[in-house]
Amino acid sequence: MITLAIETSCDETSSSVVELKNGKFDVLSLTTRSQVEHERFGGVVPEIAARAHIEYIYFVVKKSIEDSGLNLKDVDMVCATKGPGLAASLIVGIEFAKTLSVLLGKPFVGVNHMIGHIYSIFLTDEVDFPFLCLIVSGGHTDLVMVEDWYDFKHIGYTLDDAAGEAFDKGARMLGLGYPGGAKIDKLARMGNRDFHKFPSVRIKRKGYYFSFSGLKTSLMNFLRDKEGNWISDNIENIAASYQEAIVSAIVSTTLKAYHDLKVDKLVVVGGVALNTRLREVLRNEIGENALFCHPKYCTDNAAMIGAAGLKKYEILGPDTLELSVYPSLGVIEP
Ligand code: KG4
Ligand code: ZN
Repeated sequence: MITLAIETSCDETSSSVVELKNGKFDVLSLTTRSQVEHERFGGVVPEIAARAHIEYIYFVVKKSIEDSGLNLKDVDMVCATKGPGLAASLIVGIEFAKTLSVLLGKPFVGVNHMIGHIYSIFLTDEVDFPFLCLIVSGGHTDLVMVEDWYDFKHIGYTLDDAAGEAFDKGARMLGLGYPGGAKIDKLARMGNRDFHKFPSVRIKRKGYYFSFSGLKTSLMNFLRDKEGNWISDNIENIAASYQEAIVSAIVSTTLKAYHDLKVDKLVVVGGVALNTRLREVLRNEIGENALFCHPKYCTDNAAMIGAAGLKKYEILGPDTLELSVYPSLGVIEP
């Protein structure tokens, strides 16, 4: 079965052709346009994101079909991200997909973006169920027990900012631009992570929770009385110390859940799964039991949406054309 998949939940306009054959996913093409329009604003501007999706979606979808070597008529179904995400951005992808499904006379499936991130691991790896999945991205920090293809238990989440937000806001304070996770990661490789000890995150509530807003504030306080030159002279060390604090906060909650739940595998997905230090610390702690999403599928992309859509169609069937967008959808759907 072959799907055309569309992802427009935030600031990536992405389209992919994915095949599910003998239980394995094959990405036949993937085209993604990352919106650079937001850089000068230091964050995603929803109105600009939606307009950019409208401007580029046709060309992105056309290229993904061409690159796959197939024709539109070879596609068996059409799927798109239905949420969570920015409402006006989601609408562009969902309506484009619905229209194509009507014109082609093929089924339509709306896909949960978070489940898409979980499925990113299946694009390259075979993982036995159950496993624990850590979703760390610009908008989310969640722990999900994946019991089966479409059987999830949401066991942990952030009480404030997402891990990616902590990277992005820190990068902004350091004058590194947006998005800043990759920039902090790169600078940190040349810095001393013991340069400054940011306070470790303490969460009183029982369970598997994350919190990053305190770290962001402590970076702000740390930088307050520093001169511009001092900051730029020590930028690698500050980046390394701040990154270390974020990584420790992610790792401590995640490993607590991993050990309590006695699972064999921890799967790490989402944009922050690209982080070199996070990979290193988890590998040191649990070795080969930590599996990381392939770098090309960590940040938002339509291939992961295609994989989740194909399996959803197989297990739960198609959606109707009345399906709308769900900007604040969680991993577990109501
Ligand atoms: O998964 P994604 O595309 O967005 C959401 O679905 O929210 O992830 C984007 C996030 C951004 O916050 C970006 O700064 C972060 O992933 N990121 C990184 C790295 N590369 C991207 N964070 C830390 N280290 C990296 N190497
Ligand atoms: Zn995402």
